[in-house]
Formats: sequence, structure tokens, C-alpha cells
Amino acid sequence: SSSKILIKGGTVVNAHHQVVADVYIEDGIIVAVRPNIRQVDVDAVVLDAAGKFVMPGGIDPHTHLGFEFMGTKSVDDFSTGQAAALAGGTTMNIDFIIPIDGSLSAGYKAYEEKTKDSVMDYGFHVAVTKWDEDVSREMDIMVKEKGINSFKFFMAHKGVLMLDDEQLLEGIKKCKSLGALAMVHAENGDAVVEGQKRMIELGITGPEGHDLSRPALLEAEATGRAIRLASFVNTPLYVVHVMSSDAMEEIAKARQSGQKVVGEVLVSGLVLNNSGLWDPDFTIAAKYVMSPPIRAAGHDKALQAALSTGVLQLVGTDHCGFNSTQKAFGIDDFRKIPNGLNGIEERMHLVWHTMVESGQMSPTDYVRATSTECAKIFNIYPRKGAILAGSDADLIILNPNSSFKITAKSHHTKSDTNAFEGMTGKGKVEVTIAGGRIVWANGELRAVPGSGKFIKMPPFGYLFRGIDKADANYLSASRAPVKRFTSSA
Ligand code: URP
Ligand code: ZN
Ligand code: ZN
Ligand code: ZN
Repeated sequence: SSSKILIKGGTVVNAHHQVVADVYIEDGIIVAVRPNIRQVDVDAVVLDAAGKFVMPGGIDPHTHLGFEFMGTKSVDDFSTGQAAALAGGTTMNIDFIIPIDGSLSAGYKAYEEKTKDSVMDYGFHVAVTKWDEDVSREMDIMVKEKGINSFKFFMAHKGVLMLDDEQLLEGIKKCKSLGALAMVHAENGDAVVEGQKRMIELGITGPEGHDLSRPALLEAEATGRAIRLASFVNTPLYVVHVMSSDAMEEIAKARQSGQKVVGEVLVSGLVLNNSGLWDPDFTIAAKYVMSPPIRAAGHDKALQAALSTGVLQLVGTDHCGFNSTQKAFGIDDFRKIPNGLNGIEERMHLVWHTMVESGQMSPTDYVRATSTECAKIFNIYPRKGAILAGSDADLIILNPNSSFKITAKSHHTKSDTNAFEGMTGKGKVEVTIAGGRIVWANGELRAVPGSGKFIKMPPFGYLFRGIDKADANYLSASRAPVKRFTSSA
């Protein structure tokens, strides 16, 4: 039966090691990885991978499927977004539960519904968008009962999702006590509102106003602020969508001083620049509107260098597609253009081409940045993120000599546009295996609705190593007050 698969003769790449070997899969699990495995079972499907790379399926740490946002809903739900992911070599995504009214349990329930037709495994981060005792208590439930080990705090999207510093500090403290990872969307939301007002006053209502209203310094300021608050609490921090060299430098500095800060770069940040936002065609310009914005040329190269040197550790997409009709909500005012763009299908190809084909990264580093590091951070390694006996059979076969081309006509996401329209390169995902099933081969999708499983992520992942759990008194717990007398008495 097709539950047994033998992959012959490929170069098997893990983050720590690569070797020519065969991979044998049975019932969704990798059973053996070694040279010269014979066809142990006549029923096994045999795939020839000679001259190709066999790698762990991509894990996208940052997606928004079926996200209700800015008066609409992102176009890809779990079934279409995940099907697109499979066609691009990604076999797991971690989506953000963003509760509409701030209630984490209601949000969790709503997202559970959205995943009914999942075609690949998934996990969740939960966004904390208000602060009170109920939310604090619900964070306990999320971690202890629901398989959540990370919470996202918005320092922007004022009036909708944003927390102030007092609330952010409470949230970060709570994360520490739970062994959950604090994640931040780092932009100064108050200053962004001011910047937007200034643009409107100048009569700049088009997509370029989005670019001009929230410059990189506002991203750097919030990144630095979040880093310092996490240092004050003494807990790890994950900065999502690092889009500027300015924010990246803040992370580099903190990491050099030994602080546990993770920086996530997006495929859009690596391969695009802001020139698109200035296109006179609104439909083209609007498709690049996301926050933080795609920066001027130069930031892309700096982010590539940071990824190749490990200053930034992993690549996500922030996949949050909106079609041209939805984007047109902001035809007269860039503030109403739904923020977000695609990438879940394109990430593995574009990162291979941009980083590995170009010589900036090795295949092992590619695996680390697209899969393994994410699995380790969110504490699901080596079940995910590795080709090892006992790991889940989520893997891809990539042909380094075959080409890919990205177009809205041929992509699998539901949008009528693609932010990476026309991009081509070498390194094509020819086969995707998810949960032990061949779900993408010969340009054909065979996704099975309902086959994706929720992956519980336990707290106290490796970033918490060496961080004292009992260290609730982060303000110098060992200090005693000075014994004083009054000399003037
Ligand atoms: O523009 C973006 N990034 N949309 C998705 C929501 C978020 O802030 O990540
Ligand atoms: Zn964000
Ligand atoms: Zn996002
Ligand atoms: Zn090229």
C-alpha cells in the first residue's frame, strides 16, 4: 500500500549533517535512514532521488489562514492555504489564533473550527490583544491544557490589537512563569498613527503612504524596547517579521551580549524591496502592503546576510493573502488596504534560490532555517524538523537542476495576485510527503482534507535552558534592603 515508501539514493539533509542514503517510511513515520535499504516490501512505492536533496518538509512559523482582519478575511483558509504549502514543500504551519474580542478560549474554539479540513499538520501561537485577569488565567489554560507554548503581543495596530508597555510587560512576565515564548510584532504603534496622519495631511493617500508613514526607525525602536523589557524580566523573546536592518541590528547587539532573542525573517523581506509600493498601478502597489513594510533596497541584502550568519535564525512567511478586490478597500486611503501578502507556497523555493543557489547558505543551513530551528524553538524536535528514524514522515525531494516559476495563474493559493509574480529560479520541490503520504508529485496535488493533525507544543523549550523557572523575582531576587538609621536624629 502507499503507506510504505522507499526513497532511494538521495542526499539526505538534516540541519546537522548530510549524507547519501535511502529513507524508508511506514505508516507516517520514518523507519530507517541508511544506505542500501532493499525494497523490504513489494508493496512499497519506490521514489528515485539520485542527484536530488531529500530534506525535512518546511515548517512555516508564521501564517494567518482564515484571519478576520481589517474588515475582511484573508483569502486562504486552512485547506487552500495548506494545499498551497504542500505544493511548495512546506508540511507544517504554525498559525496565529487572534481572538476577535480578546478572549483566548473563544479564539481557540473559533480556530479549532477553521482547521477541520486541514491537509497537513499545524500548531498555534495565541495573540494576547488585551490584558486583564481573565486573559492571564486563560494563558494558563492555553499552555497547560491546549498545547500552546507561545504568545504574540502587538506593539502596533493601535486600537485593534495593540498593547501598551504596562500590558506588554505583564504579558511577558506571564510567559516567563509558564515557560512560554513571548513573541512581538515590533513597531511603535503610536508613532505609526502619527505618521499616517502626516501622510494624509500631505495628500499622500496611496500605497506609498504606507511605506512613508512607518519607517524602519519605528521598527527598530519597538524591537529594542521589547528586547530590553524581555531582558528586564529575564525571559527569551521571539521577534516576528524582522523587516529592516535597523531592527536586525538591535537583535544582533542583544545576542552578542548573551540575551536569548530569536529573529524571524520573512521571505518577502529577503527577496522584495519597496519599489512595488510606488507602482502607479494601484492593484500592483497594494499587493505589497504589509506591516512592518517591505523596506528600501539594501535591507533585503542585509537580512540575507543576517540569515546566512545566524544573526536571524529562521524564515517565515506571514502568509496573509488578500485578493485585489479586498486590497481595493483602500483605494482612497492606504490605511484601509488590508495588510498582508502571500508566501506559504513560495518560501521554500525562494529561500533555496536566494540563499543556497547564490552560495550564501549550505543545504544543511537551509534545512535549519526553514524547518529544524522552528521545530526546536517550539519544542517539537525531533518529531518535526528532522529526517531521523522515529520522526514524522514529512519530507521533500528537491531537484537542484530543475527550475521554478511563480505566477498567479499557476499558484495554488486563492488570491488573484502574487507578490512574487514572475520570479524564477533553480531548485524545484518535485515531491512532498506529509504524514507519510505523497501529497505533491509530478505537478499534481493529492491533499487529503482532514488528514492534518494538531501538534501540541509543550512549554519550557530549549530557549528556557539556564533560565531559572523560580526566578519570578526578576528584580534582583537575592538583594536584601539596606539597614538604615537616621544620623540627624
Ligand atoms: O501585515 C501583516 N503582517 N499582516 C498580518 C498581521 C501581522 O501583523 O502579522
Ligand atoms: Zn505582525
Ligand atoms: Zn503576521
Ligand atoms: Zn537568480
